[in-house]
Amino acid sequence: MSHTIFITGTDTGVGKTRIARAMLNRLLDQGYSAAGFKPLASGAERTAEGLRNDDALVLQAASSPGLEYGEVNPWCFEPAIAPHLAAREAGVEIGLAALDAAHRRLALRHERVVVEGAGGWLVPLNAQHSFADWVGSQGWPVILVVAMRLGCINHALLSAEAIQRRTRLLGWVANLLPPLQERWRDNIDTLQARMPAPLLATVPPGATAAEIAALPGWAAIDLPDPAEPESRRSHWSAAPAGPIAAPEKDGGRFTPADTGP
Ligand SMILES: Nc1ncnc2c1ncn2[C@@H]1O[C@H](COP(=O)(O)OP(=O)(O)OP(=O)(O)O)[C@@H](O)[C@H]1O
Ligand SMILES: [Mg+2]
Repeated sequence: MSHTIFITGTDTGVGKTRIARAMLNRLLDQGYSAAGFKPLASGAERTAEGLRNDDALVLQAASSPGLEYGEVNPWCFEPAIAPHLAAREAGVEIGLAALDAAHRRLALRHERVVVEGAGGWLVPLNAQHSFADWVGSQGWPVILVVAMRLGCINHALLSAEAIQRRTRLLGWVANLLPPLQERWRDNIDTLQARMPAPLLATVPPGATAAEIAALPGWAAIDLPDPAEPESRRSHWSAAPAGPIAAPEKDGGRFTPADTGP
């Protein structure tokens, strides 16, 4: 059984880091030691300490204290291109065994690990393997972040089907990225009727990680009291949450305000 959860999305730029950060906030608030893990990042700044990727810095800051950058993000490449191409250009082969070893280092010292993929579910890791192969081989439960944009129904259903071929889809998150999509409520309803896993949360535009962590839908994820003995703790699981209304602001209309990841 796993103490790790994998956050994927319908695409790049859909809110994975924001949700991963919120999950880490929630776990730390609940008393867990938790580590964010962005194994493979492309798109990084050169700094005096070496290459640094924004997502990994966010996850490192949201994790329990004491993590080195390289533990959170062992493979970091400068160009913002497909990660397997960035790795190939750097002459690096990222194998599943090396990914497992990097994950194990975190899992040995933390009760929970929140892994953020790169892009979407089928993004390649190397010439042979994709994130789906790696996560499927580990059997980790997956949360799918859906950016509520035109086209998202197809992207969400395709992703859900592909995830379920390999591992358990714990649930999905409707992220209302600004600008707000026309008929976003109808689109959420449509997805709720068709997705094979529960809607865990509807994230309003401009919601901070703390606000996201406080959304009621996460209660559908079973996070037992850390004081319980290890043997009694169940692992990540979600009961069907039923319909979850998006939080109302301004009479049902949101005022978008980007507050950063
Ligand atoms: N609900 C939201 N409201 C406003 N802005 C948001 C929301 N969710 C995400 N964003 C913004 O959208 C951008 C993309 O979000 P984020 O970085 O979390 O996506 P991602 O899926 O992790 O992207 P990547 O594929 O690059 O890792 C960021 O600038 C983030 O601040
Ligand atoms: Mg990200």
